[in-house]
Amino acid sequence: MAKILVTGGAGYIGSHTCLELLNAGHDVIVLDNLSNSSEESLYRVQELSSKKLDFVQGDIRHDQDLDKVFNQYQIDAVIHFAGLKAVGESQQIPLTYFDNNIAGSINLTKAMERAGIFKLVFSSSATVYDEANISPLNENMPTGMPSNNYGYTKLIVEQLLEKMSEADPRWSIALLRYFNPVGAHKSGHIGEDPQGIPNNLMPYVTQVAVGRREKLSIYGNDYNTVDGTGVRDYIHVVDLANAHLCALNNRLINNGCRAWNIGTGNGSSVLEVKNAFEKVNGVSIAFEFAPRRSGDVAISFADSTRAKEELNWTAKFGLEDMLKDSWNWQKQNPDGYQK
Ligand code: NAD
Ligand code: UFG
Repeated sequence: MAKILVTGGAGYIGSHTCLELLNAGHDVIVLDNLSNSSEESLYRVQELSSKKLDFVQGDIRHDQDLDKVFNQYQIDAVIHFAGLKAVGESQQIPLTYFDNNIAGSINLTKAMERAGIFKLVFSSSATVYDEANISPLNENMPTGMPSNNYGYTKLIVEQLLEKMSEADPRWSIALLRYFNPVGAHKSGHIGEDPQGIPNNLMPYVTQVAVGRREKLSIYGNDYNTVDGTGVRDYIHVVDLANAHLCALNNRLINNGCRAWNIGTGNGSSVLEVKNAFEKVNGVSIAFEFAPRRSGDVAISFADSTRAKEELNWTAKFGLEDMLKDSWNWQKQNPDGYQK
């Protein structure tokens, strides 16, 4: 069993990953500045696992916070979630995104180097793929210039990590390219708790269902897809969390830098998701069609053969589970971690 530092561990994907790590017997140290999360998620993770983790409130941009953690704990590997992720906001305040996501990642890897730790799992995104690629997207396809600054930070960090590991063979880095994470732990005690108006489809749908929003706007119904609405590869957050454990096992014994897609391989349209949510959960979702959202592609879904073959990872949950679990979390926590 290993001692894992989880940056951004109080967030949506981080908290689910901490739970799976604890359940698998690992020791977990979380470093998070709580800029987009609350410590409540970590109390709940500990309750669910009946195990303790260590929480350090700190920032990956601050050397003293990082050195304190690396000096205090004998860390074996780092899972790096910390960063900002709001696509629209990244267009308005790009420097803040470059600072948190790019400078923060450079700072983290420099601190790891000082501490002699070279095993890293990085949260990347399907957004790094060139828009001209036709789904299913595989890791041999070219990356391209993402349509927003958030995506750009993911591409830059991927490239920096690749170059770093080419220069120094001690590094062992997994780039996990997430497709669309949704769902929540089956208990409904931890889940996604976005600040303000949700950007993403699933939290918007659950907030309409719980009465916090009036209706869903479906961005575009004239795409060249099954029903005209955008198609994505939704992946259950618990499956995604487990992909990090598989990547960790791989990185503990291999060196180099390698990318893996983490998706189910199935595409679902916005209308299919909305209709299935209504059916599975017995609630109705008011909606309207709205113009296309700038930067959106028509279709994106994964070929995740590489993750299956090399990481021994496959998604276990289907769309119904994702929709049930998202609703179970929102129903139990209408105001997220506030209540
Ligand atoms: P999240 O906002 O819930 O979690 C990110 C966490 O990082 C938060 O707890 C936040 O407080 C913390 N954080 C931010 N900046 C920090 C800093 N400078 N120092 C320390 N902590 C900091 O987001 P999430 O959905 O759990 O995403 C986790 C990672 O996965 C992010 O890097 C995100 O870009 C990436 N990702 C997310 C998605 C998605 O759709 N959710 C898709 C692809 C990639
Ligand atoms: N959508 C709506 N209405 C909404 C929100 C979304 O119709 O209120 C549609 C979008 O147009 C798209 C689909 O639902 O067709 C999914 O949109 P999301 O915003 O949930 O997800 P994206 O595919 O745009 O982006 C997500 C993450 C990014 C990541 C990207 C990788 O938010 O961080 O996947 O593909 F980079």
